[in-house]
Amino acid sequence: MADWHIGVIGGSGLYELGALEDAQEIDVGSAFGAPSGPITTGYIGGVRFSFIARHGAGHRLSPTMVNYRANVDALKRCGVTDLLAISAVGSLKEKFAPGDFVVVQQLIDRTISRERSFFGDGIVAHVPLADPVCPRMSKFAAKAAGKAGAQVHTGGTYVAIEGPQFSTRAESNLFREWGADTIGMTAMPEARLAREAELPYALVGMVTDYDCWREPDGDVDVADILRVMAENAEKARKLIAGFGAALPKTRKASSIDTVLDTAIVTPREAWS
Ligand code: ADE
Repeated sequence: MADWHIGVIGGSGLYELGALEDAQEIDVGSAFGAPSGPITTGYIGGVRFSFIARHGAGHRLSPTMVNYRANVDALKRCGVTDLLAISAVGSLKEKFAPGDFVVVQQLIDRTISRERSFFGDGIVAHVPLADPVCPRMSKFAAKAAGKAGAQVHTGGTYVAIEGPQFSTRAESNLFREWGADTIGMTAMPEARLAREAELPYALVGMVTDYDCWREPDGDVDVADILRVMAENAEKARKLIAGFGAALPKTRKASSIDTVLDTAIVTPREAWS
């Protein structure tokens, strides 16, 4: 049993949390390079939150340039116990309309140019990733999103593309055939790294557009995405505030907290 300390990774449109009490901005170093920016830490309703803006202040980092390892490592060094990621996503299904929130359950990784592991340089680890998100965190997120007034869908599959360009229509249709529900550019390798850092991870996608598969809509338009994001940012902040309130008083251990215990192949004597 321990106290919760929720790390929040805010995506496009969510560059600060707002309602933090006793807020402090801290620069946290990482052995994996520079995080996207400072971490803001404080309390909402007695629960500790630490926030980082994934794309940096002023949205200067493209999905490829974000240092996902440094962001997850910096939050871990702050002592966060669990991670809540918020991301703008495109919809690959009619029923996920712009403005809706999707609590993602599965991920498909189509990124090609990112560091995806903390391991590999002298220490080999293979963590399980069959269920890349934490059901407990996802349940709290869905509850809080509903209370924040969002139309919430639980359990979609998210396909992560490298970007920065949006998909071709053929790709969009292919992802639909694969059964993907939403599309974005950032949840991978973030979810992989969260698992390696033994941090239970939940992902809330804020639907901003129908990607390009839907005939009447044509191409994805960044102006439309920015407009929907602006409309949703307040709801996302309410979600986070409500998230703390939805948590039980004490945090029971999760199997993800100790996932490395059985994942490291290299014997300790051989670590370099
Ligand atoms: N983020 C928001 N909408 C997106 C889309 N259609 N494709 C990829 N990433 C997105």
